[in-house]
Formats: sequence, C-alpha cells, structure tokens
Amino acid sequence: MDCFRIEGPTRLAGRVRINGSKNASLPLMAAALLTDDPLILRDVPDLRDIRNMASLLEELGCSTSREEDGSLHLHVTDPSQSHARYDIVKTMRASICALGPLLAKRGYARISMPGGCAIGDRPIDLHLRGMRALGAEIKLVGGDVVATAPRLVGTTIFLGGPFGSTVLGTANVLSAAVLAQGVTVIESAACEPEIVDLASALTAMGAKIQGAGTPRITVEGVESLSGADHRVMPDRIEAGTYMIAAAITRGDLELENCPYDSLLAVTDRLEVAGIDIALTDESSDRNRAVVRVRAEQRAKPIRLTTQPFPGYPTDLQAQMMALLTLADGNSVVTEKVFPERFLHVPELSRMGAQLFRQGATVVVPGVERLVGAPVMASDLRASASLVLAGMAAEGRTVVQRIYHLDRGYERMEERLCPLGAQIERVDDATLEG
Ligand code: UD1
Repeated sequence: MDCFRIEGPTRLAGRVRINGSKNASLPLMAAALLTDDPLILRDVPDLRDIRNMASLLEELGCSTSREEDGSLHLHVTDPSQSHARYDIVKTMRASICALGPLLAKRGYARISMPGGCAIGDRPIDLHLRGMRALGAEIKLVGGDVVATAPRLVGTTIFLGGPFGSTVLGTANVLSAAVLAQGVTVIESAACEPEIVDLASALTAMGAKIQGAGTPRITVEGVESLSGADHRVMPDRIEAGTYMIAAAITRGDLELENCPYDSLLAVTDRLEVAGIDIALTDESSDRNRAVVRVRAEQRAKPIRLTTQPFPGYPTDLQAQMMALLTLADGNSVVTEKVFPERFLHVPELSRMGAQLFRQGATVVVPGVERLVGAPVMASDLRASASLVLAGMAAEGRTVVQRIYHLDRGYERMEERLCPLGAQIERVDDATLEG
C-alpha cells in the first residue's frame, strides 16, 4: 500500500492550477443516465472516485471514455441494467447519485444501500424522502434500495435534515424532477456551487430549472433531455487545501482557475488568521481567477464553525485545523455538518499538536512546532490535513493509507513537489523499521 514520506519543514512557492471539481463531477456524470444522447464533460479530474463512478455507469449501460483532450464522453447504449451492486457502492458513497436519474428515465432503480463511513453514519433518508414525494415506491430488498415509478410526478418537497440541507440529496431530487410530470419545488435545497453547476448542465440538456444556488429550487418537468457539452467548475476544496498549504508553510502560492467567490467563507477565516489573499486580476472571472496567497508569519488564532454553503465547508475543517495547531494562541473549531468528523485529531496529536475535543468542538492551543511522526490517513480530507502538517513539521512524517487522499486529489505529491515540498510516494512494505 502506498504511503507518503514527507520531509519538513518546507516552504511552498510558485503557481498551481486547480482541477475541475470532483464533487461536482460525480452527479454530473450520473446525469448522463437521463438522456439517450452523448454527454461531454470537460475538466473532470482523474481520480479514484471518478473512475469508480465511470465503472458504475458502465455497469448501468452507459459507455464512458476519456478523450485525448481530457474530456469525458458518456453515452447510454444499453438501458436494461439498472442495478448498482454493493461491490461498487461500498467503494464510493456517491453511487447514490445514480438513483434519481435511473428512476426518472427508466422508472426503476436498484441501488445497494451505502454503509457508514469514517466520518459518521451518513444516512440517505432525505434522498428517499424526496423520491417518495415524487411518487416512487421504495422498498428495501436484500440490502438494496429498490425504487419504482412509472412516471414521477412533481410536488413540493422539504429536504431539510437535522444537520441542514443535503448536497447529494438535492442533486438526486433535482436530477429526478427534471423528467417528472409537472412542477417540483425543492425547499431547503442545498445552495452549494456544485448544485448550481449541475443545474447549469441540466439546463443545457433542456431542463427547466430556477433558483439553483438558493434554498428554493423550482423545476418544470420536461418529456426528454438531450446531450450537452459542459465544463465542470473548479474544485473549491482543492483550491482551499492549497490556500491552507501556502499558509501553513508560510509560503507564497498563485492558484490558477481558482473559484474565488465560492471560497469567501474560507478566505474570510484565513484573512482573520493573518494570511494575505488577493485576486491578481479584479476584472477576470471571479470563479476561475488567479489568486495569490501569502503568509509571512505565524497564523493568528481563529474561531471556526463549519456550515452548509455559504458557510465554512466541512471538507476544509481538517486542513484548517492543521494550520491552527501552529497558530499563536487558542483557536476553537466546531463541526456542524458531520459532528463526528475528527479522525485527524489523534493523528495531529501524534505530531505534537495540542487538541482538546469536547463533542463537536475542538479547542486548539497553538504550539510553536510540530514534529514529524508516522500517522494514519483515515478519510479523504483528514489525509490532506496530515500532508499539510507534515510539510510544516520538523523531520520526517510518514502518512499511511494514502489511497484515501488519491480519492480526491490528483497526484498531490506531483503538484506540491515542484512548489518546494519534499514528498515521496513509497510502498509501505519497503519502509525500514
Ligand atoms: C457532500 C460531499 C461531501 C461533503 C458534504 C457536506 C460529494 C460527493 N460529497 O456529501 O464531500 O462533506 O456534501 O458538504 O459531493 N444527511 C441526513 N440524511 C440524508 C443525507 C444527509 O441526515 O439523507 C446528513 C448527513 O449525515 C450530514 C448532513 O446531512 O450530517 C450533510 O450531508 P450531505 O450534504 O448529504 O453530504 P453528502 O451530499 O453525502
């Protein structure tokens, strides 16, 4: 199994291009199931989760190919197989994205129920509530969700849950409602930019959608959708991770193709922490901008609470915590989206961080230095926080189980090393002692 061997401390400087968004790509790929025509997606990152979604689509009769220009071509050629089996779903919870499109287009979907994951229970009750409201009959058969509906019928659906709105739940209900009969209103819809991106691709396919990006989305169902050619939005979580990487290494990075306006909650916290962030060209597209991030001194302590968009994203909580372990004072981090998402806490502690957790809150009295140590990646974003900490720590850090990181960051070591990082990918069987 691969691990990262990181030598620190290092300082990052230079320019890096932000890839297309993984989280936007997954429901966009599933949208190929909604049409008989080809769907072309540009700037889809080459990641494990994306390859898993492509395998799932292949199983569901949708051919997938990556062209020389990097675009992904998706085309349904055999609509007879509508079963997403456990061995694929267990590798990727986002397989649930296929539910809405299959049901809407084929009238039938069978999807293995996703299990829990490292960051908590991750139920899908809101997805199912949405499908039921659209008239689907849902049963649980042998661990699979089996959903049937001769034709979905539009209605008003409240999608709020105990932790706020649901991103993939909103994507699923939206992707089903576009082919439903009549008007669907999704109340308490997720406002994340990835939903706006999905809505814009669906609109290009012929869907009639209003309000994407607000808590009320209105969809007027249409009889059929065509193909489209869509460029995926840049990955705001990758961009945020590299911003924090610049901050923790007291570096100077320019991020190209950076979704600046989708990261305001993040740049707000970084600026309060004393990090200098600037759009290099005010007149450019603010969501594909060049952004310079500079840190000259130790970060100042901050308070941070994760929230649904436009609040601070839970997917950047672990990385920011790595930065705060080295801040000059006491920070407080509260997780309101996934209250159990703190697997990085014991690992950062192994590197000398002071972290005191009470329920969904962690108090972080900053220390002057972290020291390299062997640590274990446990989920995607926690792994990123350990890599950031490793670049700032003194000595050698070995981050094991880097396959978690590869799910969401395209060859992170190859992107960071030209900027000054010293990271080597090695097979952990070859590590001495
Ligand atoms: C997506 C992102 C993930 C991000 C998360 C929150 C993808 C592929 N993944 O995940 O990276 O961390 O949004 O921004 O886009 N919930 C329920 N019932 C449901 C669904 C969710 O109670 O049916 C709860 C969850 O347990 C969680 C909260 O709602 O506490 C938000 O989860 P949700 O927005 O659904 O996360 P995902 O869409 O799965």
